Amino acid sequence: MRVLGIETSCDETAAAVVVDGRDVLSSCVFSQVALHGPYGGVVPEIASRSHVQTLPRMIDQAVSKAGMEWGDVDAVAAAFGPGLASSLLVGVSAARGLAQRLDVPLIAINHMEAHIYSLFLEENAPRLEDVLPFIALVVSGGHTMLVRVEGLGQYTLLGRTVDDAAGEAFDKGANLMGLGYPGGPIIDRTAKAGNPNAVRFPRGGRLKANPMLGGMNPALCFSFSGLKTALLYYLRENPLDGSEEMLANVAASYQEAIVGSLAQRCRIALQSGEVHALAAVGGVSLNGRLRERLAEVAEEASVRLLLSKPHYCADNAAMIAGLAGAGQGITGRSDLAMDIDPNMRL
Ligand code: KG4
Ligand code: ZN
Repeated sequence: MRVLGIETSCDETAAAVVVDGRDVLSSCVFSQVALHGPYGGVVPEIASRSHVQTLPRMIDQAVSKAGMEWGDVDAVAAAFGPGLASSLLVGVSAARGLAQRLDVPLIAINHMEAHIYSLFLEENAPRLEDVLPFIALVVSGGHTMLVRVEGLGQYTLLGRTVDDAAGEAFDKGANLMGLGYPGGPIIDRTAKAGNPNAVRFPRGGRLKANPMLGGMNPALCFSFSGLKTALLYYLRENPLDGSEEMLANVAASYQEAIVGSLAQRCRIALQSGEVHALAAVGGVSLNGRLRERLAEVAEEASVRLLLSKPHYCADNAAMIAGLAGAGQGITGRSDLAMDIDPNMRL
């Protein structure tokens, strides 16, 4: 089954063709980061306008790079949520129109589930059935959660952030350090020359049980807002003096606090019953220090570490088309009337 996937949930405009959930024939992504950079974050109005302008070109490219004609498309899939409503609507409307015109099923996909599925794209990727059950750390600009995966569609949310997402912590921290947007990759690069123990930032401690956490274990939940405040106060007391060494030390220490908090919860999650692997997906899983720390955590627990290929970590449409091809549409049928859901849960 050749699925054309469409992804517009935030600020990447993407289209891709994937065969039978695994073989990626094309994956085209337009990043709007240059448009949002001057504002230090994603501006929803600008994002949706840019999707409208760019999506038709991405879809054309995806179909032609796949060496296909329109008639070769067997189904159209799109992310219906979670994400920015005005952005989701662009991709879903395009997918709906295409599915009707081509007379093929429209498949609704959960964006977070697709991030997890990105681990299994391309021929040399691990096979899902060989790594079940596993623990997935989902870390992006909008989400931070720990999920126990028993199979496609079988997820237990073990923990999540109670305030900022890990990517947001990187982006806001970089902003405070005057480093530009998006902050994650810049902090990653800047931190390489720094000492991660130069400044001791808080790691979010252990959260107290509270009704907001539902049934989740507080030891597996995250909090990053205190860290951001700690950085703000630190920089007030110790203004950056233009020295590269100082900047690198602050960046490395700040990164270490985020990564330490993520790694520590992964370690605890791996003790929650027998699992075969630890996985990390989403934009923040590109972080070099996080990859190092997770490799240690996985080795300690004698489980495999699974990471998506770098081009499938950040938002892309191959993960959307892949998950659809694996039979994991939300409705499992063509549902032209289904609406987007900006708060869709896993
Ligand atoms: O998954 P993604 O592309 O978009 C969302 O669905 O949110 O993730 C974007 C986030 C941004 O916050 C960005 O700063 C972060 O991923 N990010 C990184 C790195 N590359 C991207 N964070 C830390 N280190 C990186 N190398
Ligand atoms: Zn995402």
